[in-house]
Amino acid sequence: MDNPKIIFKNQHRENTLCALNGGQELSPCTIVIFGASGDLTARKLIPALFNLYKNDRLPEPLTIIGAARTEMTRQEFANRLKESMAPAQIDLKRWDEFCQNLYYQEVDYDSPHSFTVLADFLTDLDTQRKTKGNRIFYLAIPPSLYPTVADHIGQAGLANEGVQGKQWSRIVVEKPFGRDLKTAIELDTVLHKSFKEEQIYRIDHYLAKETIQNILMFRFANYIFEPLWNRNFIDYIGIIAAEKLGIEHRAGYYEQAGVLRDMFQNHMKQLLALTAMEAPSLFQDARVQDEKTKVFRSLKPLTEGNLFKDLILGQYSSGTIDRHKVPAYRNEPGVNASSATPTFALMRLFIDNWRWKHVPFYLVSGKRLREKITRIVVQFKKVPHSMFRHVLGEDISANRLIIGIYPHEKISLTFQTKTPGARLCLQPATMDFTYQSLGPGATPDAYEKVLLDCIQGDHMLFWRQDGVELTWAFLTPILEECESCRDLAGQLHPYPAGSWGPKTAMKWLKPIIS
Ligand code: BG6
Repeated sequence: MDNPKIIFKNQHRENTLCALNGGQELSPCTIVIFGASGDLTARKLIPALFNLYKNDRLPEPLTIIGAARTEMTRQEFANRLKESMAPAQIDLKRWDEFCQNLYYQEVDYDSPHSFTVLADFLTDLDTQRKTKGNRIFYLAIPPSLYPTVADHIGQAGLANEGVQGKQWSRIVVEKPFGRDLKTAIELDTVLHKSFKEEQIYRIDHYLAKETIQNILMFRFANYIFEPLWNRNFIDYIGIIAAEKLGIEHRAGYYEQAGVLRDMFQNHMKQLLALTAMEAPSLFQDARVQDEKTKVFRSLKPLTEGNLFKDLILGQYSSGTIDRHKVPAYRNEPGVNASSATPTFALMRLFIDNWRWKHVPFYLVSGKRLREKITRIVVQFKKVPHSMFRHVLGEDISANRLIIGIYPHEKISLTFQTKTPGARLCLQPATMDFTYQSLGPGATPDAYEKVLLDCIQGDHMLFWRQDGVELTWAFLTPILEECESCRDLAGQLHPYPAGSWGPKTAMKWLKPIIS
């Protein structure tokens, strides 16, 4: 029988506290999207900007320039974007108004001259539209092009800023930030040739999810959880991002990345840091980043012993998802027929510090699993002594707190209660707080949030380079050992698509998904 549920209602709206700078005015600016003819622009960036526009959340004026190699006119660019939007997303009148702010500029990424032309175009538009020389350069291009494009932006003088924050220039980069420690440092060196750290915005869309932002509020705006949030009361922590999707049309990228680079280097590490970090002295971006950095620095290396004691890798074979047959990873278009790329990983890691000594953190992510679930499970210890043991036995299940990110955005706390009636029975009950209870519109799209934060100059939800390097420093030896391991085939456990992953992972995985 399912646990009885106690649903929380939002009954305290009159006590809502909002940030004092919530209504801060946004400066006019121009967003240049490199890779404008690509998937990310059409699927995420333009819909996010259009949505912000419809809700009057964008600065006035704002210019959007699509930049790409493809030859097309401004009108063709707008038509193309319109076609790729879902009909429900389009309000035709507002779309036409929105398009007044949309431009297109053909750019040859390899040609410095092309960037000088772009710079002239930007200057003209600035004068025409009064955008004050504020610019965001969004790299929605393959990572191999980041160095060239960043370099050419710098050479064209487009990274220069005015004094005292007047006229700013920012660059936004999507993961992957390198493919190991060395290449991450190389990329950073190129970015820093033209941009200062404060001008660089490294996106992790997980950080913009409402429920993930809420982790710090939940932990540090409440008094009752924090005293228990440590090795004395917590048995283990599970962090899972399971997906039903396969690799879609991204074989080229995924074959090089695998699940460790695709999910563990970024999203999983951010979830880990938010769960494990100490309270910053102030909710302010540098201080929050400092505390996350300390977590990354305290990770116990996995490669000091037998790596595969703490790491289970898998790859999906054919199977059934939602009653449809799906092919094995090795039969996906573009994938090598003998590929050893992992599509599943379960990592047990430890944080070597006072708070977390000996508490295992299980990080799990995989493609083509039975369900899409993203959640953090905090499993508390069992009661030290059961006064009910003579009647009920020793085995009373322990408290558990779940921070649900997908499919249910909620926080659930499970505890024991007496079942009503004359017989002595104990039963777990679950208290659920759901985000839906806060009303519609409570969860804006992650890309809307990151774009707004970048316009606002707020780094809180972005990666800082020291964090990138520390997480690569942890992962790189693991990747090296995996990739040079002669027995990788033996360590890569197949699992049928639509299952929960390799059987060997079940002992750790089962408690996290149940
Ligand atoms: C991306 C990964 O960063 O995150 C994808 O590259 C993955 O492989 C996606 O599917 C998962 O994001 P979400 O928001 O659907 O959990």
